[in-house]
Amino acid sequence: MSQTQSIPSNAFTLRSPYGRRAIGLSLAAAVGGFLFGFDSSVINGAVDAVQGNFELSQVLTGFVVAVALLGCAVGAVVAGALSDRWGRLKVMLLGAVLFFVSSIGAALTFSVPDLILWRVMSGLGIGIASVVAPAYIAEVAPRQIRGSLASLQQLAITLGIFGALLSDALLANTAGGAANQLWLGMEAWRWMFLVGVVPAAVYGILSFTVPESPRYLLSKGKRDEAKAIFSRLVPPADLDKTMNELSSAIEADRKNKNVSLRGPVLGLQGIVWTGILLSMFQQFVGINVIFYYSTTLWKAVGFDESNSLLISVITSVTNVVVTFVAIFLVDRVGRKPILLTGSVLMTVSLGAMALSFAFATGSGENVSLPAPWGGVALVAANVFVVGFGASWGPLVWVLLGEIFPSRIRGKALGVAAGAQWIANFAITVSFPAMSGWSLPLTYGMYALFAALSFVYVALRIPETKGMELEQTETLFVRKPKAKAKA
Ligand code: BGC
Repeated sequence: MSQTQSIPSNAFTLRSPYGRRAIGLSLAAAVGGFLFGFDSSVINGAVDAVQGNFELSQVLTGFVVAVALLGCAVGAVVAGALSDRWGRLKVMLLGAVLFFVSSIGAALTFSVPDLILWRVMSGLGIGIASVVAPAYIAEVAPRQIRGSLASLQQLAITLGIFGALLSDALLANTAGGAANQLWLGMEAWRWMFLVGVVPAAVYGILSFTVPESPRYLLSKGKRDEAKAIFSRLVPPADLDKTMNELSSAIEADRKNKNVSLRGPVLGLQGIVWTGILLSMFQQFVGINVIFYYSTTLWKAVGFDESNSLLISVITSVTNVVVTFVAIFLVDRVGRKPILLTGSVLMTVSLGAMALSFAFATGSGENVSLPAPWGGVALVAANVFVVGFGASWGPLVWVLLGEIFPSRIRGKALGVAAGAQWIANFAITVSFPAMSGWSLPLTYGMYALFAALSFVYVALRIPETKGMELEQTETLFVRKPKAKAKA
């Protein structure tokens, strides 16, 4: 394996022009992650007021919240295919337009059907952003710092979640409640949606200012344009080597001509299943139950409503802060040890939550936990967020950006991210019913998935730290036995 060690990772710090450029481009692409986090969480502060305003039933309210996730799944798959055809930038712009229009539409919404339409449109934008950012970052990042740069996507997602919670809280407080009128005769909940136009506009403008992915250009035969962009990202000592390696990998890809995701493993190529399974494990540990339903959890532990909201904000800050652990470690210790450690922390903490809820009294909204189990559950839930946020949160996005061959990267990433949104939808809509039936079993199931995620990574995920993007894909190919004998 021709891993060049000529350029050390410290050639790509903020002090070097190459480092600064790669970090700058990755930050620009990661604004999509901010919108992803923001648009998926902004409904939290608005939902009760929306329900009151349109007199929605409980079921319809749940549908209005969850339908965006289905839009996300469609957006991810469509964006994957389009980004291989149009390039990464045009798809970024499409995402920005969808975010912009749906933020205004949701703010001015006058009936339930049009609200559903804007939610789906915003979902399409989120789905698009969830695919374009990891693909773009992986393709412009120097291999030495690719893991850290790809983790910026997760940092942006978590900042987006925090930004939405904060902006919702500020607007609701200023108006004295989300349902109260704020400015220009519009209620606070409408302003919550409208705020999304600001990051959407920034994202749209950025799509005109950043260069197209050089790897995408090269795959379309635009060698000179690709070289010009690479020469600003890779030091001269690595430039020719990078261009040659890439060209031969792309040439081999072209001969292969197989741009289809279909393959021998249950109808798909094995690598596509790897992406899908990583995505599903990331969701089946139940992370979004903590983000979407945490207030109920904290109330069970004994906090009143306003303190519960505060704890949710604190949890979202924890989620931001621990992402730095991954950013710092991912290119030093590698992907696998981080994922494995995360799986252990999540299994233990989710197991502790399942055990705590076995001692719960009451049911439904009125569940409560006697001492010491309330404290145990509180600590365990936060350990779980730390474990996820420093490992599976960012690392799945890192791996989805780097494990697929160039010829199918967009498409395959789209399918893997689409599977993630469907898994997210399944966990989100099933939680109320499952928790009503048995909280210990619900958390026990998430703990089981965390344990299985350990086994899966230990057996099936190779280490990709420090490798060229074109080498990483070779790790996931199983050598044909017949050839080995010949
Ligand atoms: C996941 C989201 C989740 C977020 C929490 C992301 O990696 O894709 O579903 O809400 O992490 O920080």
